[in-house]
Amino acid sequence: MDLAYIKSMVKEYSNEIKSRIIIVDTNNIVQADSGDTFVGEVFKHDEINSALKGMATSNIHNFKIMGRVMYVAVPVTVDKNVIGATLISASINSIYEEVQHIQNKIIIISIVSMLVNICISFLLMGLIFQPLDEFKRVINKASQGNLKEKINIETNDEFRDVADAFNMMILKLDQADTERKDFVANVSHELRTPLSSIKILSESLLSENEENIEIYREFLQDIDSEVDRLNNIISDLLSLTTLGKENIILNYRTTYINFLLEKIVLSMKPLAEKKSIKLTLILEEKVQISIDQDKIQQAVINVIDNAIKYTQQNGLIEIKLYTLEQYAVIAIKDNGIGIPEDCIPHIFERFYRVDKARSRETGGTGLGLSISWQIVSLHKGIIEVDSQYGKGSTFYIKLPLQ
Ligand SMILES: Nc1ncnc2c1ncn2[C@@H]1O[C@H](COP(=O)(O)OP(=O)(O)OP(=O)(O)O)[C@@H](O)[C@H]1O
Ligand SMILES: [Mg+2]
Repeated sequence: MDLAYIKSMVKEYSNEIKSRIIIVDTNNIVQADSGDTFVGEVFKHDEINSALKGMATSNIHNFKIMGRVMYVAVPVTVDKNVIGATLISASINSIYEEVQHIQNKIIIISIVSMLVNICISFLLMGLIFQPLDEFKRVINKASQGNLKEKINIETNDEFRDVADAFNMMILKLDQADTERKDFVANVSHELRTPLSSIKILSESLLSENEENIEIYREFLQDIDSEVDRLNNIISDLLSLTTLGKENIILNYRTTYINFLLEKIVLSMKPLAEKKSIKLTLILEEKVQISIDQDKIQQAVINVIDNAIKYTQQNGLIEIKLYTLEQYAVIAIKDNGIGIPEDCIPHIFERFYRVDKARSRETGGTGLGLSISWQIVSLHKGIIEVDSQYGKGSTFYIKLPLQ
């Protein structure tokens, strides 16, 4: 290969890769130089010396003026004999600058993403802690007895669902609390009435100067009936509390309702006769179902007792037994005073009485129907009422046949 060709190839290639190419012979004499300056001169360099010893070498040099330059020297061999060396030198400043530039960019991106992360964390913390603070506020109020506060959460996420459930729970607690307070107030009121009567009667007896046995007897009889009344109220209250227990056990027994009703009517007849009320029992079918006899007896007695209490002298009460769809129905119909339409929804509430003023005459507390309702509900049955004010009422006790 002639030298002129090598020189032109070196130039061409050096242009192409934007580097300087120098070729030396084994005596370190420059044979070709893409820059033309060193041709014929002795060129000694560590990299070239190594290449002449058969070892390809590369190094980076940092010059004051040119900056970073990379030297690569490779041996030129013919039949495994080194006949010279080629040195390629290229400025790598731009690569360094580029790397530096990328490094700077990475640092900036890291700082920015760190800041963004911190901002997002603060934002998320705010989103989480703000509703939790609201929960804390309302829970604290509730623990101090204020059940009127509600959790206000504007978002539409899981917090809102929990807040809604919590608000519902607080509402129920508030209702239960109001009910409990009403109950205690009602109980105290109901117990106080007979107690005040007893107090007045006994005080009158004590202040009586004459020894009049008739007056003593009369007053003591009044005291006795007030004590009975107290007893009734307390046993009604105890029944209600027992029936309200979650783990109440019913003593189920297969029973002919027919026999049970005959027994009840027989026991109620004297009470009805006192007011000359005619009590009739119509057993349309033989009905046998599984019930807690004592409890159902109490439920039916309460309704018949009302029918007698709220029916005038010479009235009529008819008790009927039949089956309708999946129920055994006990219908208790009277032609008494009836119930005003707007009062009907309340008559099963504890202590509710239509005519509170008349309760002293009739002796009611307003617990009878709520006891019946509880008992029938425990049997998975229902009580319904049809009533016309001034004409009479019919109560339907429906007990499931199965
Ligand atoms: N057959 C009925 N006719 C007219 N009103 C009735 C009849 N049954 C119930 N009521 C009305 O419903 C109210 C509630 O009845 P409930 O049996 O619960 O209480 P009560 O009879 O007043 O008292 P208690 O039964 O506790 O002695 C009664 O006070 C009465 O006003
Ligand atoms: Mg009653």
